[in-house]
Amino acid sequence: MAAGAAVGAWMLVLSLWGAVTGDQNITARIGKPLVLNCKGAPKKPPQQLEWKLNTGRTEAWKVLSPQGDPWDSVARVLPNGSLLLPAVGIQDEGTFRCRATSRSGKETKSNYRVRVYQIPGKPEIVDPASELMAGVPNKVGTCVSEGGYPAGTLSWLLDGKTLIPDGKGVSVKEETKRHPETGLFTLHSELMLTPARGGALHPTFSCSFTPGLPRRKALHTAPIQLRVSSERRGGEGPNGDAVPVEEVQLVVEPEGGAVAPGGTVTLTCEAPAQPPPQIHWIKDGRPLPLPPGPVLLLPEVGPEDQGTYSCVATHPSHGPQESRAVSVSIIETGEEGTTAGSVEGPGLETLALTLGILGGLGTVALLIGLIVWHRRQQRKGQERSQKTRRKKRRRERN
Ligand SMILES: *[C@@H]1O[C@H](CO)[C@@H](O)[C@H](O)[C@H]1NC(C)=O
Ligand SMILES: *[C@@H]1O[C@H](CO)[C@@H](O)[C@H](O)[C@H]1NC(C)=O
Repeated sequence: MAAGAAVGAWMLVLSLWGAVTGDQNITARIGKPLVLNCKGAPKKPPQQLEWKLNTGRTEAWKVLSPQGDPWDSVARVLPNGSLLLPAVGIQDEGTFRCRATSRSGKETKSNYRVRVYQIPGKPEIVDPASELMAGVPNKVGTCVSEGGYPAGTLSWLLDGKTLIPDGKGVSVKEETKRHPETGLFTLHSELMLTPARGGALHPTFSCSFTPGLPRRKALHTAPIQLRVSSERRGGEGPNGDAVPVEEVQLVVEPEGGAVAPGGTVTLTCEAPAQPPPQIHWIKDGRPLPLPPGPVLLLPEVGPEDQGTYSCVATHPSHGPQESRAVSVSIIETGEEGTTAGSVEGPGLETLALTLGILGGLGTVALLIGLIVWHRRQQRKGQERSQKTRRKKRRRERN
């Protein structure tokens, strides 16, 4: 109790003190001049004012006054009472205070907390992979940001969405180095990724630098687009374009193509060739009227989606090639909501469960409401009948 009151009193004192002194957070770019105004000071000499600073350059408080000498090339008091730092450095981070007395004798204090920053060069992805292999960990590349302060952070984006390292499919190796003379930071972030089989075939990666100070803009690398292949290539030609055409692969997710009603099936056609071939889809021997594309998504699978699917890759120089056929079918399960390992399963199940619970709660509330209403009606009815009985009795007595 007493401790709480004491803390409260201190908070009050501190906040009042902050209000009086007008605490201000200042950020200054390294190498640029910084001017801090001494509030309440007369604009011209003679002035009664004193600057005190406690920074990485000072051992304790360093005092500067208009009459005194400038402090080397670090700081000096200007004729109007402001403090000038001609070129801010990392060591100038710290607290700056001025106490001024106006001509009428009123004292004003200014209090600044100065933090410095440097904008690093545009981040870059160095050593990017030439292509990625589905199902195995691949090094995508290393993102480098050089010359920033404070350190800040790097993050990777896949198709515009931030990749969260999970130690499994996505992992990141980070390294932070500091330049021995300038004190500026160089960040490295190496991305390892295991592309899902049957996932996107041409993912786009980029990397962003987030500054260590608030309200500073993030910086982005140019995106890189990589190709995901499902098998190792059988030897590349010397000039790179003489790649032998491989068989067209059709990957179905979930494996086996069987889902519970309402599940999702993803068919991905992989035809590793350059330039990428046009891909059309065939169901039960007939072409599907869809725009060409390597992924066929069947959401909310119903009976009409069952059948045999294949894809045809049409390459300008090799002619059409058809994949093996896979069948999509619906599992008839007794219970609802059990899916055979569908990727969307967990999300949908949770949704169904939530809706179920909400629905259940609603029903219970409705039932309770009905019961209460019913009881009231009953009670009213009893009261009415009692009244009429009493009336009857009275009439009988009269
Ligand atoms: C200044 O920064 C400190 C910590 O960095 C923060 O707690 C405080 O709220 C900031 N003050 C203002 C006026 O922004
Ligand atoms: C004092 O002079 C400097 C440099 O001329 C200027 O940047 C600053 O705003 C002035 N301060 C006040 C309080 O006028």
